[in-house]
Amino acid sequence: MIASTGTWDRCRSPKRSPGCGTRLTKELFDKSLRRSPDGNRRRTVVSLQRAFESVLETPHAISRLDAVLWQQLTLAVTDPEHPWSVGTLITTDAGSPTGQPVPDGRMVVLRNVVTARRTLECHTDVRSGKVHQIQDCRHSPTPSDLPSRIAWLFYDPAAKIQLRLQGRAQVINDASADVAWKDTPLASRSSYLSIATPGTEVPSVLPPSTDDRIVSDEASERGRASFRIVRTVIDRSDWLYLRPQGHLRMATVYAGKSPLSRWLVP
Ligand SMILES: Cc1cc2nc3c(=O)[nH]c(=O)nc-3n(C[C@H](O)[C@H](O)[C@H](O)COP(=O)(O)O)c2cc1C
Repeated sequence: MIASTGTWDRCRSPKRSPGCGTRLTKELFDKSLRRSPDGNRRRTVVSLQRAFESVLETPHAISRLDAVLWQQLTLAVTDPEHPWSVGTLITTDAGSPTGQPVPDGRMVVLRNVVTARRTLECHTDVRSGKVHQIQDCRHSPTPSDLPSRIAWLFYDPAAKIQLRLQGRAQVINDASADVAWKDTPLASRSSYLSIATPGTEVPSVLPPSTDDRIVSDEASERGRASFRIVRTVIDRSDWLYLRPQGHLRMATVYAGKSPLSRWLVP
């Protein structure tokens, strides 16, 4: 087979499984699904509104909402139709031409979630700007291995639910990256096959060719050299639901064993 130039799609290996940290109860899973209105295609789509409403109707919802939040993130890893399957990863560019650290965000596919460790992962090219930003701006007074601060942003326009996460990021290239690379189908591997560094300015009026990404299975192995996991460990979240009967906002801190959630004035 030959890799197409389709790049950041949600092509998945059939072997892929969601992060092991969350067990989705069948009840909650069913509650988050609804039938698509387009009768012909009969695909099942996730309703975030339904998932969160099912908990909001119960007493002490504040102690249960965070679990739903992580269950939905876990679902988003394996369901390309999930509204949170793609999010914005925000880093800080400490080496910007302005001389000031500037925030920088971009869309990425959510590839793995492990609730027990509060980790979210995406895949990227080691030559990309975000990797340099994560590795450059450690924001630590002393040189250390402390990962840099990052944020994630997810939004579901249908449910009008926003999720902001903050934490730390590390760029991973260990055995878990080998496994993730093996699970990356040929079409997605093309994202890592460009000969020139992604983001390089092109001195031509024509857009650059992407023919270097159309390769066979075997030749796609050269992409492994550029492939990395960005692993983020989340330490706080801010969930906002523009609920028709009144907006709701909840902040959660993940410090000890149990998350600590509080209502905020929306
Ligand atoms: C829907 C969508 C999904 C994307 N997914 C990824 C991804 O999973 N990983 C990635 O590195 N870039 C992804 N990209 C491309 C990034 O948004 C970005 O353009 C690219 O990674 C370069 O960003 P950087 O220069 O800040 O590193 C995606 C773009 C779109 C529109």
